[in-house]
Amino acid sequence: MSRTHRIAVIPGDGIGPEVVREGLRILDRVAELEGLRIERTSYPFGAEHHLRTQEVLPDAAFAEIQQHDAVLLGAIGDPRMPPGFLEFGIVGRLRFGLDLYVNLRPVRLVDAALCPLKSKEPEHIDFTVVRENTEDAYAGMWGQFKKGTPDEVATQEIIFTRKGVERALRYAFEHCRKRARQRKLTLLTKANAIRAMELWTRAFAEVGAEYPDITREHQYIDAACMFVVTRPEQYDTVVTSNMFGDIFTDLGAALVGGLGLAASANLHPGRIGLFESIHGSAPQFAGQNRANPLATIMAVSMMLEHLGEVAAAQRVEQAVERLLRSRRLPDLGMDSGVGTDAVGAMVLSELAADPVPRP
Ligand code: IPM
Ligand code: MG
Repeated sequence: MSRTHRIAVIPGDGIGPEVVREGLRILDRVAELEGLRIERTSYPFGAEHHLRTQEVLPDAAFAEIQQHDAVLLGAIGDPRMPPGFLEFGIVGRLRFGLDLYVNLRPVRLVDAALCPLKSKEPEHIDFTVVRENTEDAYAGMWGQFKKGTPDEVATQEIIFTRKGVERALRYAFEHCRKRARQRKLTLLTKANAIRAMELWTRAFAEVGAEYPDITREHQYIDAACMFVVTRPEQYDTVVTSNMFGDIFTDLGAALVGGLGLAASANLHPGRIGLFESIHGSAPQFAGQNRANPLATIMAVSMMLEHLGEVAAAQRVEQAVERLLRSRRLPDLGMDSGVGTDAVGAMVLSELAADPVPRP
């Protein structure tokens, strides 16, 4: 009997529908190869839907989405909307509403040609960022006072809870142990200026005591932005708060091929997961069959791993890696250079050429 997985698909805005279309082509093919059954439900949420219906992400749809095993998200964001409106209403709602407390973002160099740094080989850049995903300035506690007057005030609270920090740290220690590479976990904070980050440094030492096999390192985020460029080989697993993780992972993406390639998993172990590229909706490329779908295809690979389909996940990942190493793609930015569907077709043909998956 074939294994069945239920996937909610939200193509979203801008290039989202095009890159998701290619992601699903790959998913369907690998499902065929591995004998999986994928049941998909598509949801129309995003800017167009909001302009037509005033809906963002209705409660009934949220409850229905929750019944799936995973969500595949294209991209959310539209210049016709106030910044953050849809991002908070859809991406934020899913991350917070589903309590997906880890945002896992691998930074791995597949081919030296993809790295803008001098003399860096794949063995020099291979780390994972565990970004806390449900707190910090993203918690949505903000306010405005005397708006539009010369005395106006705007506030946004940075929130850290012991529970939220500790579960992210624990996940990171476990992940680092599972990677079994340098067995080093680096915490990034700004505890020298943001006094509330003392909670992070204290919990790091306390939780870390339970992981004597993992070396702990603490860096300030500003210094880490320099070190990741000068000595990226020092990182194995990195753990950090929501906003620093957001920024640090765009920098990480730039070191290994750009946003056209970077994927992420929003996780709460044992529950539904949300999988997405880390790029935005790139409205300038929308509807032109130009956008690079590789990040979404890598998100499909992460989704398969979450579903327990490790062989299928590796097939997709290795097909993308072979394509990258073949250097047949002229540009790895958001503009694919050859066409969204053409990149999808290249990954499909690599899948067909698949040797035996890694054990
Ligand atoms: C990301 C994005 C989001 C974030 C935006 C779209 C709200 O930049 O996934 O990194 O800041 O988390
Ligand atoms: Mg970001």
